[in-house]
Amino acid sequence: MNYHLYEINDKIKNKVVDFIIQHWGSPKIVSRGKVHSMAQLPGIVVLRDNNIIGLLTYSIENEGCEIVSLDSLVENKGLGTTLMNEIEKIARAKKCHRIWLITTNDNIRALKFYQKRGYDIKAIHRHAVENARKIKPEIPLKGYDDIPINHEIELEKWISI
Ligand SMILES: CC(C)(COP(=O)(O)OP(=O)(O)OC[C@H]1O[C@@H](n2cnc3c(N)ncnc32)[C@H](O)[C@@H]1OP(=O)(O)O)[C@@H](O)C(=O)NCCC(=O)NCCS
Repeated sequence: MNYHLYEINDKIKNKVVDFIIQHWGSPKIVSRGKVHSMAQLPGIVVLRDNNIIGLLTYSIENEGCEIVSLDSLVENKGLGTTLMNEIEKIARAKKCHRIWLITTNDNIRALKFYQKRGYDIKAIHRHAVENARKIKPEIPLKGYDDIPINHEIELEKWISI
């Protein structure tokens, strides 16, 4: 597959925000009660023919690197894995020991994907999505396979730097 990886820059930012709105319902993502404004986050964008086909955004705080969003529009071709390898390189360069993320209880595919790549379940934050919905009402009530979206699942991977 022919594609190129770029760091998000000012030139592409508007396109990235449009992509996030399209795939996440709003320009903000809520995780652990924190609101991430997607126009402000760094990330890696994957372009093919000038269209975004993959995106990973992240936030670094206290030697931890949170993957705030991850999307691959061309599934099962290694794109998601490529983005996960890239974030490990970035985390190492920024001296982060821990990479972590939140997914939701309905996202069985993501749970499989992350666990197969060394991410361990750190915590299940029961009913956290109900609180997140108060901040971001666009979060749907049901997700993948019509499963009610209620809980945040926190996964983490410790890396040597
Ligand atoms: C989860 C997600 C990011 C995975 O992305 P992806 O591009 O499909 O990931 P990959 O292609 O790297 O890996 C998926 C599977 O395809 C397989 N695969 C990779 N390259 C392949 C190839 N060339 N041919 C066939 N299969 C391949 C991988 O082995 C992998 O299977 P495994 O997990 O059993 O090892 C993607 O499904 C997605 O965007 N989901 C919607 C948004 C989401 O849920 N994001 C995460 C929540 S925060």
